[in-house]
Amino acid sequence: MTQVHDQIRDRGIVRQHLARLAQRPQKTQGNANGESQTLLKAKARELFRERNAVLLAHFYTAPELQELADETGGCVADSLEMARFGARHDADTVVVCGVRFMGETAKILSPEKTVLMPDLEATCSLDLGCPVDEFSAFCDDHPDHTVVVYANTSAAVKARSDWVVTSGCALEIIEELAARDEKIIWAPDRFLGSYIQKQTGADMLLWDSACIVHEEFKAQGILDLKKVYPEAAVLVHPESPDAVVELADIVGSTSQLIKASASLNNPQFIVATDRGIFYKMQQAAGVEKLLLEAPTAGQGATCRSCASCPWMALNSLQGVIDALENGSGVVEVPEDIRVQAAKPLQRMLDFTA
Ligand code: 13P
Ligand code: SF4
Repeated sequence: MTQVHDQIRDRGIVRQHLARLAQRPQKTQGNANGESQTLLKAKARELFRERNAVLLAHFYTAPELQELADETGGCVADSLEMARFGARHDADTVVVCGVRFMGETAKILSPEKTVLMPDLEATCSLDLGCPVDEFSAFCDDHPDHTVVVYANTSAAVKARSDWVVTSGCALEIIEELAARDEKIIWAPDRFLGSYIQKQTGADMLLWDSACIVHEEFKAQGILDLKKVYPEAAVLVHPESPDAVVELADIVGSTSQLIKASASLNNPQFIVATDRGIFYKMQQAAGVEKLLLEAPTAGQGATCRSCASCPWMALNSLQGVIDALENGSGVVEVPEDIRVQAAKPLQRMLDFTA
């Protein structure tokens, strides 16, 4: 049985946040090219040494940030591996280039470390779409349910949960809970929840929120592209709408999609996720493979996200330097919430170890 909890579907929160971001004074752009980028990276490398710091970069961030992480012994990864790597590493300072929940996860798992982000406003529509008070009340209404939340949530929402999962491990964890006949509250991504419910047959009550990047992908656009490239494999992140997931050859987390591009023989890949992934995917697949963006709802000025997360785009080389030089962008999680949130996060890490 699947039910959709539809009390909260407040796109207004997301729109307001993005409108406020657009009005902020422009920060110094870190997406510099050529010499200035080389200088910025050299400065960042020096600061990493001085501060005994390590960089965790998500696959959706700019190529220069992914390069910097690779060159300085950090990691470029999906959200599950970022959590694992940050917890294991013995650096004093962890710089997280990604979105807020990734920085909070690093802090929850490593309270003794200083965790910095280039821009603390880098959030996620799923996190915004699941305010803790409403979510907590929803859970209180269903006390017989196991509460499973996606990693893309605030520390406070995680603290209210029994399990945290990422797209890289959600299926196996829900399969296990379904085998134990547990009834599940799932939040916040309804598309990922719906995909998992169909795969596992679990009894799930779904929160109604979505990723503003992935919900834009269109099944008809992929079908049209397949007519031009009939041999292409379709790689889909499960935050995408059901009709898009149904067309997929591979459904998976960002790292699972990159692995698939390396192992499949298709000459082209149609990719339904943030286009930041193309940097690592092209390296994994080989230069001879053609990577195609899955079509979204619009183009240019008419496109709301155009396969590009507006919050991931707030990360920059200059932001990394500012954080390390000035100690700006410190991620804090209140201790009582941190202790509670660490339990379901650690449960996920132990389950997937
Ligand atoms: P991954 O866990 O696959 O890295 O996804 C995180 C995310 O925010 C996808 O939009
Ligand atoms: Fe959140 Fe979507 Fe951005 Fe991922 S791509 S961080 S789910 S808004």
